Amino acid sequence: MTWFPIGNIADIPLRGARCVKTPEGKIAVFRTAENEVFAIEDHCPHKGGPLSQGIVHAKAVTCPLHNWVISLETGKALGADEGAVRTIPLRNEDGLLSIALESLMAAAE
Ligand code: FES
Repeated sequence: MTWFPIGNIADIPLRGARCVKTPEGKIAVFRTAENEVFAIEDHCPHKGGPLSQGIVHAKAVTCPLHNWVISLETGKALGADEGAVRTIPLRNEDGLLSIALESLMAAAE
């Protein structure tokens, strides 16, 4: 698997997120209060809201538009709502973050 560096964990505030633009679209990279990091599509499964601007709590984010709650682990909407966003493999090596992108991998082959 090919990994693409996206910066340092210190660039993301605790309980915050960063939006990374890639050839596969915008990816939201989240850092939880427990210092865990997750990457999912920055596109709410409801109406495409920017999840990277949502509120992070535990291992979930609340969409800023209509308050759907999306699991950062599975990308699935929680509670009564249905839908999911793609989760992106994310590697954390001593704070240096990398993501794996399928189309970039395919292009590199
Ligand atoms: S667009 Fe996210 S809850 Fe509606």
